[in-house]
Amino acid sequence: MEVETVVQAGTATARSFTQITDLSEEEVGFILRICADMKNGKIAPRPLAGKSVACVFAKQSLRTRVSFEVGIRELGGQSLYITDQEIQLGKRESISDVAQVLSRFVGLIMIRTFKQSDVEELALYASVPVVNGLTDLVHPCQILGDYFTCAENLPNLKRYKIAYLGDGNNIANSWLNLASIVPMDLRIGTAASCQPDEQILNRAIANPESSITVTDDPQEAVAEADVVYTDVWASMGQKDEAEAKSELLRKFQINSKLLAGASPECLVMHCLPAERGREITDEVIDGPNSVVFDQAENRLHIQKAIMAFLLKQPQ
Ligand code: CP
Ligand code: NVA
Repeated sequence: MEVETVVQAGTATARSFTQITDLSEEEVGFILRICADMKNGKIAPRPLAGKSVACVFAKQSLRTRVSFEVGIRELGGQSLYITDQEIQLGKRESISDVAQVLSRFVGLIMIRTFKQSDVEELALYASVPVVNGLTDLVHPCQILGDYFTCAENLPNLKRYKIAYLGDGNNIANSWLNLASIVPMDLRIGTAASCQPDEQILNRAIANPESSITVTDDPQEAVAEADVVYTDVWASMGQKDEAEAKSELLRKFQINSKLLAGASPECLVMHCLPAERGREITDEVIDGPNSVVFDQAENRLHIQKAIMAFLLKQPQ
């Protein structure tokens, strides 16, 4: 079913997080403040007390699975790890039936899958919040967590100069989504055939508060950047394209030479897992500017904040 049809037919009664543009700029700021208070122990809410959360995975995961499972426990709930082998979303039964059945058992659904429209359809029919744990199109929890990591490490900067180098994938799209609601100077360095999603790009460009550049010149992208970010060149489900992508994206590798063009205090970021020696060199990912493990840790705090925020919304 097309998303357009689903939007008309849906019965969603809960607030979901299917992509960053589901939030306003104020709500992003609010979630970041909840995240900071949770991380420093100022607040320890338990909105999931007595509830279970379905964590549905159609792709592999280390960080997303563990951070959600730990976070759910810390919010008082218990998690159920379910692979798509069992559910076979939309094949064994319709997505709307899965949404309505799960909503009778659990207080929240987290899903990692391929198609963004599947997550949106699930959210439309569920009566509990649905959280996107990554699709081919976007990875919203990651980028909200990364934005928190930027704020934590560069507290005096209000408008970040962010250089994303590499494939125009779910991570690039999520940065663009964030730029469409939060002011930033975002430069995407990528090859002509690896561009981000056109609709998402145009929405970001339409935000007069943000400056968006897409360039095939890696030096232009990193010039005086506060954040230099990369991700694998071939995402999950696209690993057969790895060699072709390597050819196309070789000059966008983050190495010491390229990093010399960025701000000396820049943050080096990678959502992980990394293919060391390919999109980023060891000396950079293990170097003094790298905050990659802060990013990984912050997945826990931001997802707790996102779940607490969604569960507090009027249902
Ligand atoms: N960054 C991230 O989402 O990692 P996983 O694929 O291991 O969950
Ligand atoms: N772009 C990567 C991100 C992994 C967290 C992928 O989709 O595989």
